[in-house]
Amino acid sequence: MKIPAWPQADEKEAELISQVLASPHWGGFHPFVEEFERSFAAYCHSRHAVSAMNGTVTLELALELMGVGPADEVIVPAISFVSSASAISRVGAIPVFVDIDEDSFNLDPLRLAEALTPKTKAVMAVHFGGVMCQVDAIGQFCLDNDLLLLEDAAHAHGSEWDGKRAGSFGHAASFSFQNGKVLTAGEGGALVTSDDEFAEQARSLCNCGRKAGRSFYEHHRIGSNYRLSAFQAAVLICQLERLPAQICRRTTNARLLKRLLQDLPQLHWQREPLQQTANCQYLLTGRLQAGDARAMCARLQAQGIPCSPFYPHTLYQNPVYASGGCRVMPCPVAEARTRDSFWINQRALLAEPDVIPEIAQAMERELHQSPVL
Ligand SMILES: Cc1ncc(COP(=O)(O)O)c(C=O)c1O
Repeated sequence: MKIPAWPQADEKEAELISQVLASPHWGGFHPFVEEFERSFAAYCHSRHAVSAMNGTVTLELALELMGVGPADEVIVPAISFVSSASAISRVGAIPVFVDIDEDSFNLDPLRLAEALTPKTKAVMAVHFGGVMCQVDAIGQFCLDNDLLLLEDAAHAHGSEWDGKRAGSFGHAASFSFQNGKVLTAGEGGALVTSDDEFAEQARSLCNCGRKAGRSFYEHHRIGSNYRLSAFQAAVLICQLERLPAQICRRTTNARLLKRLLQDLPQLHWQREPLQQTANCQYLLTGRLQAGDARAMCARLQAQGIPCSPFYPHTLYQNPVYASGGCRVMPCPVAEARTRDSFWINQRALLAEPDVIPEIAQAMERELHQSPVL
């Protein structure tokens, strides 16, 4: 089956990388870094993007800048990559794991109130797989309870809610440019915000506590060196140009695949909210009402389809949190998803449209073997 490789690059990346090689700045002070930050901020409908080494440190930096620290609690969905929770722990605060919604796989806004305590300082909203979480309801909950909202948009470059892009809803948002992400330089991350002061402080923290316009050896806060390199910025400039066309291809192919499989009652795809106007389709996630998701993934993988079983455990079942350091609300939906769900990697949706019926047929063959409850 002709499924494209990922990541993808062509002579445009080679050309910009060779410009970096020929310059005296291979590190974070090359103009490409600023150029990428400007373009990415505009792409995210935000005023600022501050680039950094990865999407884990950007979560940690965002929490630190929001003033989240020891004794604070931060609400986070029970299903996400570990960084969403570990960033909270690393600033000394307590992650409070809350269940996800049955259909969207995202933080369930109806479960927020019961998780609230006087210690709650912030909510971390993850747009899982590119599907926007309920930003209106979660944003209102934060406003009503004087909480900060941090978007973990590591999966959602280009996803939109009512025409507004992921990253423009919270006080700040964190993006990842790790190898598998829809916008990648192998590693990398960015904090996105429209708060001028927050952006200035983030930039300073990432750059050894320096201040814009002041001398190189003047340091104003205890920062660190989290700068992105010029090589990464060169790659990201090219990748960002390609992203809209890739989203278009993935969206068309995802719709086709779902249409071809619409008659299978045991298959339920992750549901987008009605307000979602674009989905970057990082992961095409589904759950099986009957059948063994792990066995199905193994057989599809053997046929060349990049299909993976869901996270094997909720964040609080992971060894790092199994012995404590967190607060756990009842999460029956999240636990069920670790058993019955799977995702198809975005690169499958970058295939030529005539490959999609082949994927559908392979899935149909697998799912026909699963009895419907
Ligand atoms: C939801 C989520 N948040 C944060 C991260 C961390 O990003 P990075 O790998 O760039 O540190 C990831 C990475 O996979 C992620 O999936």
